[in-house]
Amino acid sequence: MPHTHQKAWDRLAEQVVLELPRPMGATSTVIDPTYRLDPAEVFGRGAPLVVEIGSGSGDALVAGAQARPDWDFLAFEVWRPGIGHALAKMGETALPNVRVVEADAAVALQTLLAPGSVREVWTFFPDPWPKAKHHKRRIVTPDLVDAVVALLEPGGVWRLATDWDHYAEAMREVIGADDRLELVSTDRAPLRPVTRFERRGTEAGREITDLAYRLR
Ligand SMILES: C[S@@+](CC[C@H](N)C(=O)[O-])C[C@H]1O[C@@H](n2cnc3c(N)ncnc32)[C@H](O)[C@@H]1O
Repeated sequence: MPHTHQKAWDRLAEQVVLELPRPMGATSTVIDPTYRLDPAEVFGRGAPLVVEIGSGSGDALVAGAQARPDWDFLAFEVWRPGIGHALAKMGETALPNVRVVEADAAVALQTLLAPGSVREVWTFFPDPWPKAKHHKRRIVTPDLVDAVVALLEPGGVWRLATDWDHYAEAMREVIGADDRLELVSTDRAPLRPVTRFERRGTEAGREITDLAYRLR
């Protein structure tokens, strides 16, 4: 981790990065599947909850939390330097409406949160795994669709973005196959800032696809 990110980690991780039980050891990305997180207890209030899958360096997380102080934001990220970078973006003080879980979102979201407790799920620029032999590593799978459907409150929205046409098609195929979700928008997600992944895609001549699915 660069020095400034490490310093931000040392300053803010205790307040922002949740320490959760990990049966396979402290460095494992798997949270105890019997453990349930209570957002009202964690954030000290009841507020609409946004879950971000793969927050990377925290651009959308920090911008979103600053724009919507009345919402709470829970991010999942497996890449600790990215979490350090997100903390550095907060500056001297932690944003009170942000918490980060250092864990595999695809696994944790199966069990960690109560059904129907999430207003929005964000999956922006998930790792594209462009080679056909690696497509099975992509995070948007029927299992993730099931987990997201269970988590969303009625009318809740899953927002996705990608700069890879074939991943966008695969998202439409996998999510569109589930009639509990309805495609309601392909406009840019309202709170999504430009990140380096979007910039990189655009510079390489790729088009950005935004998808928003609402729970019926
Ligand atoms: C291409 S980056 C995009 C980051 C960010 N969403 C953005 O738009 O800038 C994808 C991120 O997802 C994270 N990631 C990949 N698989 C994950 C998983 N199973 N659980 C949590 N994070 C994951 C990666 O570590 C990486 O930081």
